[in-house]
Amino acid sequence: MLEKLKGYLKPGSPEEKLAAQLDPKRMPRHVAIIMDGNGRWAGKRNLPRIEGHRAGSKSVREVVEACARLGIEVLTLFAFSRENWKRPKREVARLWKLLEEYLKKEDKVLMENNLRLKTIGRLEDIPESTRRQLERVMALTSSNSGMQIVMALNYGGRMEIVDAARRWALQGSVRPEDLDEDGFSRFLDTAGLPDPDLLIRTSGESRISNFLLWQIAYSEIWITKVFWPEFRKAHLLEALVEFQKRERRFGALCPPRGRG
Ligand code: FPP
Repeated sequence: MLEKLKGYLKPGSPEEKLAAQLDPKRMPRHVAIIMDGNGRWAGKRNLPRIEGHRAGSKSVREVVEACARLGIEVLTLFAFSRENWKRPKREVARLWKLLEEYLKKEDKVLMENNLRLKTIGRLEDIPESTRRQLERVMALTSSNSGMQIVMALNYGGRMEIVDAARRWALQGSVRPEDLDEDGFSRFLDTAGLPDPDLLIRTSGESRISNFLLWQIAYSEIWITKVFWPEFRKAHLLEALVEFQKRERRFGALCPPRGRG
């Protein structure tokens, strides 16, 4: 078992049994998560939607710790989409406040565990107090060398692609024959990060919802019915075990079969 999981998982627990099935050499480098179902989780309990988001931030804490211990290099969390502005103003305002509270509380944990915070999406449109907290924690953790937590905030995949094209065009005279995939990737918000190997979506919906459209070209997708506030390390381990069972072919034949 992975060294950092010892003492973290209860001996004989379902989590420990799942972890024992993992091959440390075949772990994904990058896990991306569409955290969905906060509102429905709250609705089922007759609670206001914000309580679903609050409970969801506990799942964020648990998943960050579990991924760091599992040796994941990058964890990307879809926390606020471009489309989320269409929600009632009160819910939107409280979501940003929740993120601020998370940053104020978790900065020490990020430092103690050598974790780095990064964001993707248009930060210029988010409330200033939230942006200040993000900028503070990003600067604080910028020299850490452990797992990167990438928060997608005011993010939309199509917008990111258009923005990247604009940035490239602004570089001056780009000749059509010089446009290529690697060059383009350098202008995306995710420049320098590996593409996600595994994309998880909670709450049973089978949609991509404008998330990392370019980067998930070859990602393995794992969907669970569990609502995000109920998502725990056992679910993450389940996703990883399933990921390792998949044969990733990237369009090729593997093992090579037949001729011609
Ligand atoms: C989707 O559930 C979730 C969101 C739009 C926001 C995600 C926010 C958090 C997990 C809490 C704070 C985040 C951090 C990073 C601390 P939904 O509201 O769309 O649920 P529904 O589909 O059931 O209505």
